[in-house]
Order: sequence, then structure tokens, then C-alpha cells
Amino acid sequence: MKKIIVAIDGYSSCGKSTIAKALAQTAGYKYVDTGAMYRCVALYVLRNAPFRLDEGFDEEWLRAHIDDVRISFALQPYGTQHTLLNGQDVECDIRTLEVGNAASQISTIGFVRRAMVAQQQAMGADKGLVMDGRDIGTVVFPRAELKLFLTASPEIRAQRRFEELKEKGQNPDFNDVFADVKDRDYRDTHRAESPLKQADDAVVIDNSHLTREEQMEEVLRIFHSKQALLDQSAEYSPREES
Ligand code: DC
Repeated sequence: MKKIIVAIDGYSSCGKSTIAKALAQTAGYKYVDTGAMYRCVALYVLRNAPFRLDEGFDEEWLRAHIDDVRISFALQPYGTQHTLLNGQDVECDIRTLEVGNAASQISTIGFVRRAMVAQQQAMGADKGLVMDGRDIGTVVFPRAELKLFLTASPEIRAQRRFEELKEKGQNPDFNDVFADVKDRDYRDTHRAESPLKQADDAVVIDNSHLTREEQMEEVLRIFHSKQALLDQSAEYSPREES
């Protein structure tokens, strides 16, 4: 089987990482959660910057420190994956609303995006990769063999996010979570640098009314038919040229 790159983009809280992880596990591929990378930069800023984010952002400070933000992923028993920031496990710390909001703000900065995109492209050099984010099919891997664009209604995404935060022991207010989902959608789709948009050749999956199992079935069907097509085709390079 020829190894491919699967680029999964979509709005926040529409289940990209769940489906990406499951697909990577089934295919025996690497999985990279690029949102976690922007969240790491945000956490680094929240912990180390000499300014508060709501009091004005000093981009020059971050420019001087961006190379000190070293992100890696560590496989855990049972196949789960944790995000490390400078060698420290920050998987729980990066999943809060505060870090999510800061990540949304910081991910609009051009030099931050360029630093992350360069690392992401290096991770896909040998293919066999499922990567999820906002700009994977449009900017990071515009030649990815398979692009999926996931979407669901804002209300349903807010409800899912609300349940997820409660499961993690947090005490969210639904209206705050809903407002946050809408704010993030706006920022993700309106920023000047690599706004979230569907690649022309992406397959769109609206999972508002699909169970996880139904969605996974659909994704696997699309993945296997893409692989079958590629296996018959002469047009394939085992390395991704950036
Ligand atoms: O998917 P997430 O909620 O973990 O992402 C956190 C923030 O990072 C989100 O506001 C959008 C941003 N992001 C991005 O700009 N580009 C990516 N490839 C991934 C995430």
C-alpha cells in the first residue's frame, strides 16, 4: 500500500482530532494535532511573557522567544498521545478555554505560523501521516493525497465542547462555551494569515447528525478508496516535497 498524507481541516470542536487519531491508528500512520502546537505556543506565552494578553501583545518578545518553544509528541500506553512543551507533559494544561483563546489569538501571527508550518512539513516528509488543523490542506500540504473538511453546526459543537470540559472536571457555563465557539469561528475564518477555508479538492463531511461510528465508517471508506486508486496509479511520490 502506498503511504499517503491525510489532511483534516475544519472548525473548532467538530471532532477532527477524534477521527484523525482513529484513522491514524487503523492505518498505522503517525498523527499530528497541529492545534496542540499553537496551544503550546500560547501556554508558553501565558507562563513566561512579561505582559498579560488582554493588556496588549508584545510580538517582538515572542519573536525573540519562538525558537525556545520546542514541541514534541509522546506515545502513551494504549496508543494515546501526549503533547510535550520543552520536554514537559502539558497535555492537560493546553486544553483549557483560556489557552484555547490565547492560541486563537497567537495563531494569527505570521511568524508563529511560519515556524509551526515548517515543523509540520518536516513531520510529513516520509508520508504515512494524518494531520489535523485549519490550514493543512491549503497551506501545509496543498498536495496531500486526501483532504477532509469536517463541519457541524455551532450549537452542536458548543454542546460537545461543554460535555468534554465537564468530563475533564471543569465547571463551564454553556453560554460562555457557545460564545467562545462563535468567536473562534470568526477569528479562524477572518484572519489575514492562512484563514480556515475548505480546499477546493477536499471532501466535506458534516457530522452534525452522525455518530462517531457512522463518521468513522465514512472516513474509512473514503480513505480506502483513495488508496486503491493510488495503488493503480503511476503518479505517486513516496516523499512529500515542500
Ligand atoms: O484545534 P484547536 O482548538 O486545538 O486549535 C487551537 C487554535 O489554534 C484555534 O483557535 C485555531 C488555531 N489553529 C490554527 O490556526 N491552525 C492550525 N493548523 C491549527 C489550529
